[in-house]
Amino acid sequence: MPKIDPHRRRLLGWLSLGTGVAGAIGFARALPAGMRATVHAIDEPDAGPMCAQPRATRTSAAQAPTYERFTRPLQLPREDGLLADLDASVPYRFVAQSRDFAVLPGAPTSLWHYAVQADGRVFANPTLRVKRGESIDVELDNRLAEATTIHWHGFVIDEANDGGGLHPVKAGARARYRFDVRNRAGMYWYHAHPHMRTGVQVQRGMAGLVVVEDDEERELQKQLDLVHGKTDLALMLADKQVGADHSILYREDGADDWVGNAMLVNWTAEPYLDVTPRLYRLRLANVSNARLLRIAFVQQGGGALPFHLIGTDGGLLAEPWRVEDVFLAPAQRIDVLVDFGKLAAGARVRLRSLAYDAMENDENESGELAPDPMGDHPGAIAMGHALDFMEMRVGEAKEKSVRRMLPRKLSSLAPTPDAKAWPVRKFRLNMDAQGDWFINDWNFHKTGHRNAFEIKRGSRETWEIQNAINSMPHAMHLHGFQFRVLSRSISPPDLRAKQVAPGGLSPQDLGVLDTVVVWPGETVRIALDFAQPFRGTQRYMFHCHNLEHEDKGMMVTFAVVD
Ligand code: C2O
Ligand code: CU
Ligand code: CU
Repeated sequence: MPKIDPHRRRLLGWLSLGTGVAGAIGFARALPAGMRATVHAIDEPDAGPMCAQPRATRTSAAQAPTYERFTRPLQLPREDGLLADLDASVPYRFVAQSRDFAVLPGAPTSLWHYAVQADGRVFANPTLRVKRGESIDVELDNRLAEATTIHWHGFVIDEANDGGGLHPVKAGARARYRFDVRNRAGMYWYHAHPHMRTGVQVQRGMAGLVVVEDDEERELQKQLDLVHGKTDLALMLADKQVGADHSILYREDGADDWVGNAMLVNWTAEPYLDVTPRLYRLRLANVSNARLLRIAFVQQGGGALPFHLIGTDGGLLAEPWRVEDVFLAPAQRIDVLVDFGKLAAGARVRLRSLAYDAMENDENESGELAPDPMGDHPGAIAMGHALDFMEMRVGEAKEKSVRRMLPRKLSSLAPTPDAKAWPVRKFRLNMDAQGDWFINDWNFHKTGHRNAFEIKRGSRETWEIQNAINSMPHAMHLHGFQFRVLSRSISPPDLRAKQVAPGGLSPQDLGVLDTVVVWPGETVRIALDFAQPFRGTQRYMFHCHNLEHEDKGMMVTFAVVD
């Protein structure tokens, strides 16, 4: 584990290193050697030794929990409890409440969550499984002491059912969400979204997954002999800031970039998973408040285990891409195939977020530095540092495993549209002298809650999102619509290295997304089709999914109109 230098984020601004905009093309070369190392960190044993180690070695003592890592089994869908599967074809009541769960070894952790009673069992943050074309019908019964919502992230949905901050459900009140599932098969999610309280509520646990299935998807499962819950696993990744008493900590009077000290997979801190030597499908969702991950699989001994990216936020890609790592921003999902088939029994593989240049160069335009958010919660692992989520332990082959061929065509996903003739709407992301983030000089708190713009239903637009040079990566998300990425320009080296298609696109950019990262200095163009089967004015939010940025107003509302 490299020593966390609180000033590191100040020193990494690539433009302040004198490369200049004109030097951007060649700036991989212009970077000092120390920075380039982060680009190929996969060979470094940089996320701690492979054996279990007390966590206390990397966090500041007083606040931090102490526990052996990789000693608890991964939480897999059981009959009840956290993340158990629930067939969404019937209506449910989700009770927002708080209760203790075993998250870390030892003392329990109180989680705010959605509790569901069905068939005499109690579920918490259930994984909803639904077929495309069916509907989801959920009543929220808010028994928290404050307003909350259920936002259906990634779904084609009308304003009344979207569950965004425009429609808070007061403490003690109820609301009903009902919508037809029109999205492609894929993994989506739901989470609390009350205005200014999204960060604290998600940090405390208010989030769950939705797996949408269809025939095309089921065909792939069959071809690859994948079984949901056994060899096809949904993994919810989140970092939490946890205290010595195992409670989840949050700075309620104004947190920034809330990265944590404990890595949770399916609400288990640093679990292990026994795997057989065969192909596994892992669907990863990053439900962290703020931490951008760089997902990789690293074998004991340090070597990368390449894997295939087969899907993104909005379902399967057209074809699989062999990769060594993929960026996974807060709110994004990826669908990957990992082949343990060639590994010997006893081999160990870590699900790791590799080191990367976090580019948190968030001085404002007059050159003043914003307060360092790490100062809020000492002991948290800094953004961009390597960290491990889970250890996979390869066992003996159970039966003679049949090697399956990966199909060349995964889905009938249409190519990226030709959007040359579509009108362009421009967005610029930046920070002001007070350290507040803006979208086109609009901040939800400072500028107001009215619609920033209106779009005619059925129209198609290119959105051009440009991030300031003195900035940090922002994971931009809009409600109600998914999109395709058209191009990226002036991307940082970590990203440029991933380019596989014209326009600076990475394999992930070739899929359907609802959240896209725009790196400092970068301009990203996305293609949006505002066709939808609703009428009248429907309002939605466009915001950064770093939840502290969102809560601090890096958000606008817009309306789709007849
Ligand atoms: Cu998951 Cu407004 O977002
Ligand atoms: Cu959303
Ligand atoms: Cu942001």
